[in-house]
Amino acid sequence: MTDKSIIDRLRQAAAFVIAAIFVLGFVFRSAGVWTGPILAAWFVGAVKPMGGFALLAIIAFVTHVFSNWSASELPRLAYAGWMVVAALLSALPYLLYRLTSERREGFLATLSLPLWGVVFQTLAGKWIPAGLFKVFSLVGSRGANTPVAHLAAVAGPDAVTFFIYWTAAVIIWMWNLEFRLKKVAIGAAIFIVVTGLAFGYGFVIRAAHPIASEVSARQAPLVWVCLAGAVVVTTAAFIKPTKRPKTWAGRAETLAMLRSPYTAEPLHVAVTDGRETLVSESGETFPIRHGIPVLVKAEALTGSNLKYNRLYETIGGFYDDTQRVACALMGMNRREHFMAYMRSVEARPGDRVLETSVGTGLNYKYLPAGTKLFGLDLSAAMLAYCQANLPRWGMDAELFQGNAESLPFADESFDVVYHSGGINFFNDRAKAIREMIRVAKPGSRILIADETEKHVQDAYEKFPVTGRFFKNRKQTVSVPVNLVPPEMQETHVEILWGGRFYALTFRKPGKVGRENTARARA
Ligand SMILES: C[S@@+](CC[C@H](N)C(=O)[O-])C[C@H]1O[C@@H](n2cnc3c(N)ncnc32)[C@H](O)[C@@H]1O
Repeated sequence: MTDKSIIDRLRQAAAFVIAAIFVLGFVFRSAGVWTGPILAAWFVGAVKPMGGFALLAIIAFVTHVFSNWSASELPRLAYAGWMVVAALLSALPYLLYRLTSERREGFLATLSLPLWGVVFQTLAGKWIPAGLFKVFSLVGSRGANTPVAHLAAVAGPDAVTFFIYWTAAVIIWMWNLEFRLKKVAIGAAIFIVVTGLAFGYGFVIRAAHPIASEVSARQAPLVWVCLAGAVVVTTAAFIKPTKRPKTWAGRAETLAMLRSPYTAEPLHVAVTDGRETLVSESGETFPIRHGIPVLVKAEALTGSNLKYNRLYETIGGFYDDTQRVACALMGMNRREHFMAYMRSVEARPGDRVLETSVGTGLNYKYLPAGTKLFGLDLSAAMLAYCQANLPRWGMDAELFQGNAESLPFADESFDVVYHSGGINFFNDRAKAIREMIRVAKPGSRILIADETEKHVQDAYEKFPVTGRFFKNRKQTVSVPVNLVPPEMQETHVEILWGGRFYALTFRKPGKVGRENTARARA
């Protein structure tokens, strides 16, 4: 057994234990008090803010409405009404946390969840009839003899509410940074020290004031501190100028490579009302949204491209995390997993590298440092998550929204061109392959990798969200080796991951691209 497989088994065992705790959270309230906020904090980050808020409120309402239905003496309508108010108040901290953290990424933003959490729990406690509020209260619904109740007895209920929400936000913050020690160490240390001091202080107060009412009197100001803190953190995030994407006018090198995907005309930047657009000589215009040129027209989205675009627009926020969790549960070493096909990419520092259907940019992590990254994808949602990922990984890339079957680049623009994960369900696979060849420099090796029919049947068809997109297909998946033009060299197919993935490579004839580049640069 190699070191790697030992580590993977350990990681797999840890993944199962953690997954089990999350599953138990649905049944046992003492576990759910931790796992519920963690899941909710993760969920609001993966969907659109208002949609996430509405869904969280609905889930809170549905899961709580019956728990007190017969015990409450309120008229049924009043009871249901209060439950709606309670559900909205319990979802609001997550909405404000989401809005704050997307404007101010970083450890400070984790505070907005606990600060708003304490404020809204206190409001709910004041407004909502006591018997009903208990159901929604993080601390109050746990019963007298639970770890949470003991913590609340030591440190006060507000402090425990704060701590639970903060733990959730910090875990999600660390998860998003992939628990990279360099990035999370300071935040984690602050979290541990502050919570340690707070509970220590709570313990001291408790020891000095054994009567419960004295303890809560000492701790009453916490909610006001939280309200002030919440307003400061959220206002600071909102008034902070959002990082404006680099202007396109200043990107002469990239602009020189761009072509209209419809007429192949060069594109230049025009500015109307302070907004940049890309225009061609014949008057085509392409908008730039959030710094990403949109080089595909909505009406050009048809057939299979349209069908699967709907899927990726929906799952964009979940794509990376489901992959991470699946890899961990299957005990797979992610680097080995990706490198199985990425090792065929012949990229060197200084090369211009294009990934078609770049998605959220996961493959970029497996390229050598110092390459100039370019990515194109049909889905705005996937590109938005790619844009969020890149700074977390300390990377930068030029991103484009477009169709891989009509690439918006001049011939021979890239030293390296590769694709993974989308081509099986393109409208026209042969055209996409011809396009990759066209924009690659002569002599470069091209990689096309995707799932096999076996994987599509075993996984995607069976998974509830993806199932309806993959069942009853007209065609089964095949490796597109017969679509590679005969003049290509070194055509090679490898089946990976126990028959679940294929990697098709071939070389465009001509002098090796980077030799040409070196000559041109000289
Ligand atoms: C399974 S994801 C793969 C993402 C990434 N390459 C990876 O390996 O993680 C498939 C991607 O193909 C993109 N896609 C599907 N059809 C496309 C098309 N015709 N042109 C460009 N991208 C497309 C989807 O939007 C999605 O981001």
